[in-house]
Amino acid sequence: MDDLRVGLLGAGNIGTVHLQSTRGIDGATVVAAADVVPENRTRAEKQGVERTYEDYTDLLAEEDIDAAIVALPPFLHAEAATAAAEAGCHVFVEKPFARTAEEGQGMVDAADEAGVSIGVDHTIRYQPEVQKLKELYDAGRVGHVPLASIARINNGPFSAPPAREPISGWMLDPDATGGGALMDLGVHLFDVLEWFFGDLTVEYAHVDASMDLPFEDSALVVVSTEAGTQATVSAGFFQWETPPDITGYFRLEGVADTLRSEDHMPGQFMAHAAKSALENVAKRARGQEPAYFKPTYYYQAHYRALKDFLDAVAAGEEPPVNGAAGLRMVEHVETAYEMAEGTAVADRVGANVEADR
Ligand SMILES: NC(=O)c1ccc[n+]([C@@H]2O[C@H](COP(=O)([O-])OP(=O)(O)OC[C@H]3O[C@@H](n4cnc5c(N)ncnc54)[C@H](O)[C@@H]3O)[C@@H](O)[C@H]2O)c1
Repeated sequence: MDDLRVGLLGAGNIGTVHLQSTRGIDGATVVAAADVVPENRTRAEKQGVERTYEDYTDLLAEEDIDAAIVALPPFLHAEAATAAAEAGCHVFVEKPFARTAEEGQGMVDAADEAGVSIGVDHTIRYQPEVQKLKELYDAGRVGHVPLASIARINNGPFSAPPAREPISGWMLDPDATGGGALMDLGVHLFDVLEWFFGDLTVEYAHVDASMDLPFEDSALVVVSTEAGTQATVSAGFFQWETPPDITGYFRLEGVADTLRSEDHMPGQFMAHAAKSALENVAKRARGQEPAYFKPTYYYQAHYRALKDFLDAVAAGEEPPVNGAAGLRMVEHVETAYEMAEGTAVADRVGANVEADR
């Protein structure tokens, strides 16, 4: 079968990660990319993309592509995903799927009407330690899990020190993001909980801010689940994070034992990277396929998420993390914001998104 022809809409931070991932995916090639920033187009060209465009609508009009990756800021997800679907492309959309459930529903409807698949990049479920926990949980290792807790904390819109790049303007604009830490990181965490425990109901939510940002930089949500597990969800933007280390955990308090994500992660990321790189050298020497993204640890998750989507599209199957899932997670965030109403920050976020509708 011919390679899937992929168009990259947005060649910034995560767009570049997806471009690197496709280079390791057999059966898919990024043939064109669009970005408003000339340096980003030049970088994509240097990384092997044949044609670049300033305007993504020109890319969609002129290129014969099978799939589009929407790696644009959230305020452009709805219009770009809808345009891509109407152009007849399958669409892989960055998280958060949309800024509001209303926007997300429009995207799902547009894909249905065009008869194309739509998926979302909920990456944390693809992290190696989370996949290991799923394997152990599904094997019944800890039995029923009455309580779970999941968290992800980073520096949000700010670059880790030393800051080399200016902050992308959209990241400090709640109209562009649709919310703060809960919208940006919470969608990943809700997705992991739904994957493990089935349908979620938001029972309690509170958001707050330690910094003078126009949205919440800390959020705490309690959910109940179809499996009868109660879980806390913590998302925050207040802690410096220097890759390859990332701050987050997932813990399952089962009736038989506890599962902790930390127990299945490299203790030392640099040592893990060096060991994986050496393993790859040995694999090459034996004529075996190297595990390209293993040394980068977290990029494995981005690679697997995109590969899962493209494999499903190539097989004519529904993507495993589809637009309906993207929409549900945005709905949970909206419910949490409504419950947290009354806190100063939630009121500000709610007002901004409301005004934008
Ligand atoms: N899945 C994950 O773990 C993960 C990680 C990081 C970011 N993201 C998501 O990816 C999306 C993009 O984030 P990012 O960090 O790559 O941001 P970014 O600012 O680095 O990239 C966005 C790119 O879009 C380009 N752009 C903006 N308007 C455009 C337009 N009209 N036409 C063409 N290009 C345009 C910008 O120039 C920029 O290069 C966001 O939704 C973010 O939440 C997801």
